[in-house]
Amino acid sequence: MSEARRSAPIGVFDSGIGGLTVLRQLRRQLPFENVLYLADQAHVPYGGRPLDEVRAFACAIVDAMVRQGCKAIVMACNISTATALESARENHPGVPVLGVIGPGAQAAAHESRVGRVGVLSTEGTARSRAYTRAIHRLAPDTQVFEVACPGFVPLVEAGETGSAEAGAAIELAIAPLRAARVDTVVLGCTHYPFLLPLLQAAAPEMCFVDPSEIAAVRMADTLRHEELLRAHVSPPSACFSTTGDPAHFRLQLDLLPDLPTISSVLRASWHGAALELAMARDGKCPDVRELDERYQSAPAQV
Ligand code: DGL
Repeated sequence: MSEARRSAPIGVFDSGIGGLTVLRQLRRQLPFENVLYLADQAHVPYGGRPLDEVRAFACAIVDAMVRQGCKAIVMACNISTATALESARENHPGVPVLGVIGPGAQAAAHESRVGRVGVLSTEGTARSRAYTRAIHRLAPDTQVFEVACPGFVPLVEAGETGSAEAGAAIELAIAPLRAARVDTVVLGCTHYPFLLPLLQAAAPEMCFVDPSEIAAVRMADTLRHEELLRAHVSPPSACFSTTGDPAHFRLQLDLLPDLPTISSVLRASWHGAALELAMARDGKCPDVRELDERYQSAPAQV
């Protein structure tokens, strides 16, 4: 495998900031990799949308990332994984595309002692029943209770991860899982790890599992197996992009701990059903100061 291919970025995407919880784990497992993160904030939240619409968004994002030369892609978004993983793999057989539902199911099947697992997710992921199927493939006797939490993503995107409103929404979501006496709960949306302190306080008897850790390990294994690991010749770049407002996204990023050093924050644009990623070629990001000036002088519009 050529050095240029090994240096190409890993594409990571979500509807918003949720996928950053996966990016953090990827950084731990793969500290030398270039990454290209896309937040489709023009369309967030995905969770209440028709599943076909989400599939179209996710497939178009994967197409754009492949056009940018990404060597591998993580759907750091459960509803995208539920709707689009198979299609994206069929469309791009030469590029490893990984999701988060298999890893979440694996973590839950491993963790549950009583065989009763809860899944907190967006409406669409719950409607798809993808977690029930994935857990049953690994542990057919497990009872799975999927609970949709439509209020969580807007709260996280607004930075309200400790508010009274978040606490009330969490109590509502936990009630049916407590009634079902689950011992393990999958955070079936990548935004939800940001709510973990409140979730643990509301239900200390439950074990909350975050699929992102196993997802990152699987990506590391895949790159190793495909001989796609980047050599540590220079510090890696982390290019961020949003279909929303880059200045606002930058503020959100600055508030979050444990992220890779930001190389750039750019605007990506939808043109009909196709996404254009304003990223540099060859996995390198443009100089961050130049880009800061560019988006400050031309405010983002979607
Ligand atoms: N964070 C995404 C997920 O894991 C989508 C959240 C949303 O936009 O509704 O499903």
